[in-house]
Amino acid sequence: MTLWGGRFTQSLDSLAWDLNSSLPVDQRMAIQDVDGSIAWANAIHKAGILSDEEHASISLGLDTVKGEFASGQFRFAPADEDIHTAVERRLAELIGVTAGKLHTGRSRNDQVATDFRLWMLQIIPQLDSAFRILQSALLSQAELAGETIMPGYTHLQRAQPILLAHWWLSHFHPLQRDRERLADLTKRVSILPLGSGALAGTPIPVDRAELAESLNFAEPSSNSLDAVSDRDFAAEYLFCATLTGIHLSKLAEQIVLYTSAEFGFFELSDAFSTGSSLMPQKKNPDVFELTRGKAGTLIGMLTGLLATLKGLPSTYDKDLQEDKAPVFAATDTLLAILPVIAGALRTITAKPERMRNAIDSTMMATDLADYLVSKGIPFRETHAIAGKAVRAANEKNVGLEELSLEAYQALGGALSESKGPFEADVYQVFDPMKSIVKRNAIGGTSPEAVEMQKAECRMQIEK
Ligand code: ARG
Repeated sequence: MTLWGGRFTQSLDSLAWDLNSSLPVDQRMAIQDVDGSIAWANAIHKAGILSDEEHASISLGLDTVKGEFASGQFRFAPADEDIHTAVERRLAELIGVTAGKLHTGRSRNDQVATDFRLWMLQIIPQLDSAFRILQSALLSQAELAGETIMPGYTHLQRAQPILLAHWWLSHFHPLQRDRERLADLTKRVSILPLGSGALAGTPIPVDRAELAESLNFAEPSSNSLDAVSDRDFAAEYLFCATLTGIHLSKLAEQIVLYTSAEFGFFELSDAFSTGSSLMPQKKNPDVFELTRGKAGTLIGMLTGLLATLKGLPSTYDKDLQEDKAPVFAATDTLLAILPVIAGALRTITAKPERMRNAIDSTMMATDLADYLVSKGIPFRETHAIAGKAVRAANEKNVGLEELSLEAYQALGGALSESKGPFEADVYQVFDPMKSIVKRNAIGGTSPEAVEMQKAECRMQIEK
């Protein structure tokens, strides 16, 4: 039986029923639906709609329903259109006609928005824990890396040497921002729609501030028309999830590249790699490829919901029923990916020699230019001289460290009558660790700066 059959003489076409039913999706909010109903029963009891006896009976019945959901004993009936109908139907089975008083002054429009927000308020801390587990895997790797050095890239071309620890932590901070974004979103989720009725507000004199507090919401909504249709929180949540997906895809892409034989910077543990059914030698980074791929799916979920919301007239429209599936799916995606990536990164092995061997002396060309700066020459000129040194080394097919002092002096000679600014100490600039140590300002790759960064990251995980 539906909750709305009174004005109809025919029952709903069975295919239309299937289309209309949201139970397969919204049963995930069962506990929240019951909690919302318990709070509503309290509110309308206080407002004089339920007698003490009716209130006690409804509360007890709802507790039983909640227990059935919690223990997995709840049985849905074929006629349950959505989670709200299912709960009310079961309540009626348990306590009889008094159950019919629970929906007084309430609509499924304010109810569903309340359930959804309640659900989200509870999932955000779970997501936060999953983020922290990945952050802590990244931080452990950064600690393990010590002063291991590796090539840093821009445009995927060798650029400057960096600490491996600095690279690991470069993937920590985006996740920290993701956590902060979700925490900030919480205040916009924490607005209670219940008490907005179908659209115009409830005629029951409920204390909505008290109702909000009893459900742990920060405050009640201010406009009933907006409250039943506002799905900004769902769109924002999907944006947060999608941006996380994009962050993870960037990390994943680098692991895919760096575990290839061409780079060989890391080796995945067997527990987090997969084989090929045809090629016996293969060890594939599937979990990272899937992570990269799922970022695309997440973008689809976000744009899908935005497209659903676009152009909807104010207040509740059934289109809004489309809001939950992408939010649930995005949540499941993140809760599936985050721990796996954490596990894969905890067990990955770095190959410091491969990283060291990928650093060639041209990566210190900037340091060569800086060396001349230290001799008082403007950077724009020193950049040109260092560039000429790179060209000369390339022509001779040698490294920068193999050019003779005379060759350097000839390059610098253009600047002055004398031998120019080059002295024997120039060769020190080709030590990659020296280049790294110099980058010691806050946020730089020097061991000291990275130590500070680690301390900051440690604090962020603990918060
Ligand atoms: N299943 C609906 C949803 O998810 C619940 C609200 C239904 N409201 C209505 N007036 N039919 O949006």
